[in-house]
Amino acid sequence: NRVLVLAGGLSPEHEVSVRSGRRVADALRRLDIEVQLADASAGLLETLTTDPPQVVLPVLHGALGEDGAIREVLELSGVPYVGARPDACRATYAKPIAKARVAEHGVAVPRGAALPKSVFHDLGAPAVLERIVDSLGLPLFVKPDQGGSAFGATAVAGAADLSAALVSCFAYSDTALIEEQLLGTEIAVGVLDLGDGPVALPAVEIVPDGGAYDYTARYTAGRTEFFSPARLSAEVAAAAAQAAVTAHKALGLRDLSRTDLIVDDSGTVRFLEANVSPGMTETSTLPLAVEAAGLDFAVVCRELAHRALL
Ligand code: DAL
Ligand code: MG
Repeated sequence: NRVLVLAGGLSPEHEVSVRSGRRVADALRRLDIEVQLADASAGLLETLTTDPPQVVLPVLHGALGEDGAIREVLELSGVPYVGARPDACRATYAKPIAKARVAEHGVAVPRGAALPKSVFHDLGAPAVLERIVDSLGLPLFVKPDQGGSAFGATAVAGAADLSAALVSCFAYSDTALIEEQLLGTEIAVGVLDLGDGPVALPAVEIVPDGGAYDYTARYTAGRTEFFSPARLSAEVAAAAAQAAVTAHKALGLRDLSRTDLIVDDSGTVRFLEANVSPGMTETSTLPLAVEAAGLDFAVVCRELAHRALL
């Protein structure tokens, strides 16, 4: 009669996930819930078949954890779990697909183009890069089409820097997403569905001390200032909440998600990505948003686990 918190995994975000998992497990234990904190390794199959938990709470980030693969295993095992189904995870984790789907539902997105590694390695690549700069302008932002925690992501100020940014990116994925770099305020909006449909939590505003919300800024305490709730007008806050709930629904997500958005000077909210397994570390935004909503993080984790059993 225990909750299995799955963390770690095989992606570059392993360490982040370990921190998220520890925090979730500690929170549940404070409520006297029996918790097993386990790495999503080969032993998972044996656990699920020989000693199945009552419910699984996946706190895995990145490949296998967020692309739906582990959740396929959970589906096959028949053990209830918290969060989105495999097909919804797959679509959400593929950023260009998620952007297109969310844009179809009326949420603005940055202009961008997906560039496969094979094209980049082609002799025609310089011409392709020139066309990209011509059409998207500068500055640009390059990131793997799949991934998280800013691995392989680089801001590109000048055309001469694009090539190097793509090389870093292709270390993490075979396709790069090149986008116009939006200047404005980055916010994260968590969405929770505890039984009454998806509801947006207060937006959290992200102000990295060096400007870039890179890996160090994300996971080193004190390197990023968070405003929770974000310093937005009521109108923009409402638009951000609506964008996050729209994304959650458009992507077919379940239980919880976090949508990352940029608000420009005119107050336009644009969708960057949605996360099916948002970070739960001490420096992650979702737990801050839960607190800003006046909710208790541990109770929310417990409610999510309960709901999976319904
Ligand atoms: N990918 C990290 C864990 C996040 O989105 O919070
Ligand atoms: Mg992400």
